[in-house]
Amino acid sequence: MIAPLHVVDHALLSHRMAELRDAATPSPRFRRLLAEIGAILTIEATRSLPSTTRRVATPLTEMDHRVLAGPEPVLVAVLRAGLGLLEGAMQVMPEAPVGHVGLARDEHTLKPAEYLLRMPPEVTTRGALLFDPMLATGGSAVAAIARVKQAGAPAIRFISVVAAPEGVAKVRAAHPDVAIWTAALDEKLNERGFIVPGLGDAGDRCFGTEG
Ligand code: PRP
Repeated sequence: MIAPLHVVDHALLSHRMAELRDAATPSPRFRRLLAEIGAILTIEATRSLPSTTRRVATPLTEMDHRVLAGPEPVLVAVLRAGLGLLEGAMQVMPEAPVGHVGLARDEHTLKPAEYLLRMPPEVTTRGALLFDPMLATGGSAVAAIARVKQAGAPAIRFISVVAAPEGVAKVRAAHPDVAIWTAALDEKLNERGFIVPGLGDAGDRCFGTEG
């Protein structure tokens, strides 16, 4: 069975996506939007985390309350653009440990090359939420998921902002156990491997390194 693809339908998210995609949005605002979108997507992607019941004494009485069954999953950002989403995820889950996978896509071959891997030890016992705003050819996502699996993560949820059908298909073929959350499933990739309509290069727009 292939894990589901969730294209998140939410008015606040869609409103922010319009501004994020807009070529006139400057870098500081782009970063801020990416963080807000990261928080919304994190809330959606953790909706079904295993839960249990705990007895809680309110000032008036006692009640059984739904709580998480275990500690929060590890948050893993794919550098660089995943840092923007991570900012918002950390607001929602401030206790979660954080890992990083550094990947850079060669602009000619479109293949990702790894330049950094730092994973907290908790990744071997907790699931991981993996953040990368762009799921284009899917090469980076497939490589990043493989590295988080190698590090011992028992379950991974992948969170992107804009996905191309080609990238989704590649991830689902290579890692059918990994569910995907995305704010948008776009039309296609162009000849340079950019998502269309997309939002351009998320890493460059996030950190002002365009041009
Ligand atoms: C971009 C993007 C993804 C990757 C997607 O990163 O943030 O990581 O490309 O492309 P793919 O699905 O075809 O692999 P990039 O390599 O440009 O690095 P950056 O985030 O540092 O800009």
